[in-house]
Amino acid sequence: MKHARNEKERVREYWDRKPLFTSEIDRCDLVQYFREVDRLKREEIEVFALAFWEFDKHRGEDVLDLGCGPGWLTVQYASHGAGATALDLSQSSLAMTRDILKDQGLEAALVNADCEHLPFESNRFDFVSASGVLHHTPDTRAGVGELFRVLKPGGRAAVSLYYQNALLSPALFPMTRLVLKLLGIKKPDARLGRAGSVEELGALYDGEGNPYGRIYSRRSAMDLFSGFKFDPARDVEIHYFPKRFLPFGHWIRGRLFKWLDHACGTMIYLKLTKPAGASDERA
Ligand SMILES: C[S@@+](CC[C@H](N)C(=O)[O-])C[C@H]1O[C@@H](n2cnc3c(N)ncnc32)[C@H](O)[C@@H]1O
Repeated sequence: MKHARNEKERVREYWDRKPLFTSEIDRCDLVQYFREVDRLKREEIEVFALAFWEFDKHRGEDVLDLGCGPGWLTVQYASHGAGATALDLSQSSLAMTRDILKDQGLEAALVNADCEHLPFESNRFDFVSASGVLHHTPDTRAGVGELFRVLKPGGRAAVSLYYQNALLSPALFPMTRLVLKLLGIKKPDARLGRAGSVEELGALYDGEGNPYGRIYSRRSAMDLFSGFKFDPARDVEIHYFPKRFLPFGHWIRGRLFKWLDHACGTMIYLKLTKPAGASDERA
């Protein structure tokens, strides 16, 4: 129990110190920072996944943005008329969400809490988004169970997690690491080629000192959400090729970029439904 608390404190401390992208983007001017996050999300990270998040489909609904970080998704849902709740473990990320909502004249409830122990009654939300969050918490399964509990029966969720594409498979990882090393690929504060294992690479991706960044195969991601309803052919997508870290990455465009986004994507996206008539029990 004490161990679990210490682990959670490490996670909180990391994200308080380094909210999303703050090793790449200066956050002194929040409006400028948010503009840059918006550009990065729309032009690289979510460029082929914008429709997946259904920003314009939840007007009037009770929407929870789980692990909101600096609030990019919260702003999209709130600006399309959803009744948004933004929740994060990191107080400083939540403060950024508060300030950017204010700047944009939008409203959302702000909750500083742990996704493994959500302070909401069961069956409360119509829709939950969890973009790049659940792989960062020590007990991912507990977070998934809580997400299930707070969704209404028939309610839906959109989730993304780190994905083990072919280049990160045990057979190809040594070669991938060599290429990362030879190209000297480094994020502003992390030399990715130094990662000793795929798991280490997942944690390093967000920066030195990030305690958790688990990477899921298609099978293990689908197992994690086995209590939900989803169609593996229609509701599971792969996206996000981080071309900005490659030399000449800005030359990757059009159809090649779209192909790489799918073939070498680093995130797995799942659209989930809580079965109608499901009990509140964890998934
Ligand atoms: C990579 S950021 C993603 C932010 C945002 N969802 C997005 O996609 O722009 C991960 C966020 O998850 C939050 N987080 C990590 N563990 C958490 C937990 N146990 N409960 C709530 N939030 C958590 C971190 O504080 C951080 O803001």
